[in-house]
Amino acid sequence: MGTKMLVPALFCVLMGFAVAIPPEDFRSNLEFFDYSSNVAEPAYRLVNNVYPTDVKVNLDNINLEEARFTGSVEMIVIVRENDLHQISMHQNNLIITRISVVNNTNGENVQMRSPSPFTQDSYYELLHLHFALPLVAGSYTINIDYTGTINRNPLDRGFYRGYYYYENTLRYYATTQFQPYHARKAFPCFDEPQFKSRYTISITRPRTLGPSYSNMAISSTEDLGNSIRETFYPTPIISAYLVAFHVSDFVPTTVTTTNRRPFSIISRQGVTEQHSYAAEIGVEITNQLDDYLGIEYHEMGQGQIMKNDHIALPDFPSGAMENWGMVNYREAYLLYDPANTNLINKIFIATIMAHELGHKWFGNLVTCFWWSNLWLNESFASYFEYFAAHWADPHLELADQFVVDYVHSALNADASPSATPMNWTNVEDNPTITAHFSTTSYAKGASVLRMLEHLVGARNFRNALRHYLKDNAYGIGTPVLMYRAFEKAIAEDYAFQRDFPEADIGAVFDSWVQTWFSVVMVNRTASTGGIVVTQRRYQLSGTIPDQMWQIPLSWTEQRHLDFSSTKPKAILSTPSAPYPSEAGDNFVIFNIQQSGLYRVNYDDDNWKAIASYLNSNNRERIHKLNRAQIVNDVLHFIRSEDIDKTLGFEVLDFLRSETDYYVWNGALTQLDWIRRRFEHSPRAHAAFTSYLLGLMNNVINHLGYDERPNDSTSTILNRIQILNFACNIGHSGCISNSLEKWNNFKENNVAVPVNLRRHVYCTGLREGDRSDYDLLFNTYNSSQNTADMVVMLRALACTKDQEALTHYLQQSMHSDLIRIHDRTNAFSFALQGNLENVQFVIRFLRSNYITIRNTYGGEARLNICINAVAAFLNTFEAITEFQQWVYDSQIGLGGSFNVAVGVVNSAMANLEWGANTSLEIFNFVSTRGASSAIFASSFLILAAMLIQLLR
Ligand SMILES: *[C@@H]1O[C@H](CO)[C@@H](O)[C@H](O)[C@H]1NC(C)=O
Ligand SMILES: *[C@@H]1O[C@H](CO)[C@@H](O)[C@H](O)[C@H]1NC(C)=O
Ligand SMILES: *[C@@H]1O[C@H](CO)[C@@H](O)[C@H](O)[C@H]1NC(C)=O
Ligand SMILES: *[C@@H]1O[C@H](CO)[C@@H](O)[C@H](O)[C@H]1NC(C)=O
Ligand SMILES: *[C@@H]1O[C@H](CO)[C@@H](O)[C@H](O)[C@H]1NC(C)=O
Ligand SMILES: [Zn+2]
Repeated sequence: MGTKMLVPALFCVLMGFAVAIPPEDFRSNLEFFDYSSNVAEPAYRLVNNVYPTDVKVNLDNINLEEARFTGSVEMIVIVRENDLHQISMHQNNLIITRISVVNNTNGENVQMRSPSPFTQDSYYELLHLHFALPLVAGSYTINIDYTGTINRNPLDRGFYRGYYYYENTLRYYATTQFQPYHARKAFPCFDEPQFKSRYTISITRPRTLGPSYSNMAISSTEDLGNSIRETFYPTPIISAYLVAFHVSDFVPTTVTTTNRRPFSIISRQGVTEQHSYAAEIGVEITNQLDDYLGIEYHEMGQGQIMKNDHIALPDFPSGAMENWGMVNYREAYLLYDPANTNLINKIFIATIMAHELGHKWFGNLVTCFWWSNLWLNESFASYFEYFAAHWADPHLELADQFVVDYVHSALNADASPSATPMNWTNVEDNPTITAHFSTTSYAKGASVLRMLEHLVGARNFRNALRHYLKDNAYGIGTPVLMYRAFEKAIAEDYAFQRDFPEADIGAVFDSWVQTWFSVVMVNRTASTGGIVVTQRRYQLSGTIPDQMWQIPLSWTEQRHLDFSSTKPKAILSTPSAPYPSEAGDNFVIFNIQQSGLYRVNYDDDNWKAIASYLNSNNRERIHKLNRAQIVNDVLHFIRSEDIDKTLGFEVLDFLRSETDYYVWNGALTQLDWIRRRFEHSPRAHAAFTSYLLGLMNNVINHLGYDERPNDSTSTILNRIQILNFACNIGHSGCISNSLEKWNNFKENNVAVPVNLRRHVYCTGLREGDRSDYDLLFNTYNSSQNTADMVVMLRALACTKDQEALTHYLQQSMHSDLIRIHDRTNAFSFALQGNLENVQFVIRFLRSNYITIRNTYGGEARLNICINAVAAFLNTFEAITEFQQWVYDSQIGLGGSFNVAVGVVNSAMANLEWGANTSLEIFNFVSTRGASSAIFASSFLILAAMLIQLLR
């Protein structure tokens, strides 16, 4: 599944350093799993002494207005042991009306217990069948009739209802979201990934709607008068969470390259002209994956052609879901309108389709045994999310973007002492599991795969994946089977054996799966030239546990700079090891193109040499991804006090001439984090801001305020990130240019170029009044492109008009105009809009938290809002006021209380960091032309005072 959703990183809160919400909040945190119940507890688990093989699910009398249906299930099960008194399976919120069981060996009915032939356990979501006499091993057919509910709230998942308006009438549709354990809300089933069966679905729907959709194509249609029954071909062997269906008046665009390779994009009526980009890139991604993995998508249907449908949904609780044959997407991630969808959203369409298509092989064809191995299929899906989309369209530059999007966010997520290993299973702690699933499994897993690819080489990597898929097709995958596949691939490669005779690839893999990630410390002695490399865990704070990895090391030396080969020179599998290098002035740079998932710190002399090289005209001889790595590492080391702050800022000085997207991307979030730490001291804040503006002048001039026809993808992305940040921190050129564009839109109805909208709209509203807000709100309201609507939703929160802001926040709770999946985003946008609004928005949260919980979609969503506050509590007064409320509201907050306490602690730690370190940074910044010296002494007093208060 793939969600681009705003989920502030919880683990960072727990460790006491809140991460600022990244400028592009859709980037990380692919998925959001709402663990509303503890399904890993053994009582929820089924015993696998009964195994379903063929399941027929009939959904009848579908009534969208009343949100209900009746169903019947016929399942053939294999009983694997004798003397079985009961069969248990899952159900949730179904009304079971009749059950019968047939003995397939003699064709007779099996006598059920009387009374109470079956019992339902609503707490553990189970259905138990009881028999008069114990069953013996063999084959049985279970028939169950029931009545089901179509959930009215999409966040309830299962079989749910959404809506849209077309030709001024309200239209309902119903569809499914079963992952991870919601299939049981639509039909009784063995709802764990390890149970894989063949499903045959039939749906009876009102005649007024269009044909229904499910995993497979329609095999037969029956006219029943007012309704029509469609029966679908049997699926291949799949887990219940991959079953899907859809009932609506939606319309398809079908691209059939040959009749064996059908491909369709499906959406509500009225927006079919927005299908073409997804159709074009989706077909190409499928072709690329077919070729790379050596198993054809359309041939996976075990006797039937797999169709390849992609459905855009106005309401969808996740980002997308990889149901076999019928992928569901939130509309913004599938529909493309060249006039209204910006490049970031266009890239999302390509990457999310690649992610979901990647799951067809990793997840659907080969499924993990249990959720703790989720990283296996998610890692691959996230890897292909970038690389398959890259193959399909290299102009999107996704192979490079992978590094700043995934490697950097994995390193950031793992820097917390509470970060979880990839195979971690403790599902008891809901917030933690959410964090675990959202960041670690995706970004880290995919980054580990990329590291492995650079270690074993591209060809071996591909061959290993082919072995794994071929050997485990339609079965269950485990990490061990994956390691085997890699061993098999490298055993076929003599070159690798020669270079790394000792390498135990399973052990390398395992060392990264079981623990977080490391920092490599490189000490070089100039006089003799030797380098000593030491590894340890990297953390922003706290005591550092003893851990070891097998780290593929690649590096280059100043005298022979070469960033083209990422092939490791060694695997570091001891705490520390020496390597040779030439003596004299000859700095080293480790981790070429950041192909390894680790940070690198150096001795001071090596840093100084790198700093002066970066500040010379030779800067671009260091690969852009390594420049991005260096700024990102240095900024983290400044935070964790692993580098002298002045030295750190000396390294960063080259940003003054830097114009590259990747390098700035590695810097902006962290620079913003540091800037926030000055908020308690307006003068220090102003000084740091003016320092940042000085750093950015050159890149702003280089990019300009307008798009150019020959702009590359990274140039456009750079303009988006740079101008957005520059306007936010008060760059006067950016603001006046934006206002010009905004006024031209307002007065002359001249559309703002799509890639400039985010900062132009925001600046227009920030500098404007209620009328500007109203104009944008009306534009939002009449838009037919959801991605553009999200851009506007964000910009609307930039208003400084209190009435307008109140209107905005009220809409987020009570209006259909902000769909439920956008509500937490709306709240976060309000926090980010303007520094001046922060206290107002926090007060809104305090007064309305109960309504927020009810209308945003429950406690998990409220927790997201509370967590979002952490980065914005930046004065002592704000923290104490918030803390007071937290303790006063302990009962009302319920399960959110601990989250709120975490937020207070995190804000305290941030404030303390700011008080302790800002003077040193301020001193450096002053030498770079910012502000006065008189100020320093008053600042020192403030810092001392704060420390006192915090004790
Ligand atoms: C099913 O039928 C077989 C063959 O007649 C018989 O041996 C077995 O006991 C039956 N099972 C049950 C539970 O009645
Ligand atoms: C990946 O594997 C787990 C366990 O088999 C499965 O339940 C999950 O839904 C799969 N796919 C995902 C999360 O996309
Ligand atoms: C995670 O992997 C490590 C190394 O293989 C293993 O020791 C540990 O038991 C695993 N943890 C879980 C929860 O599977
Ligand atoms: C490497 O250098 C750092 C700082 O320059 C120093 O703290 C550390 O002890 C050195 N490590 C070794 C192994 O020489
Ligand atoms: C793009 O066009 C501008 C102006 O037309 C020109 O100055 C610039 O060199 C061009 N850049 C590239 C990469 O072709
Ligand atoms: Zn996924």
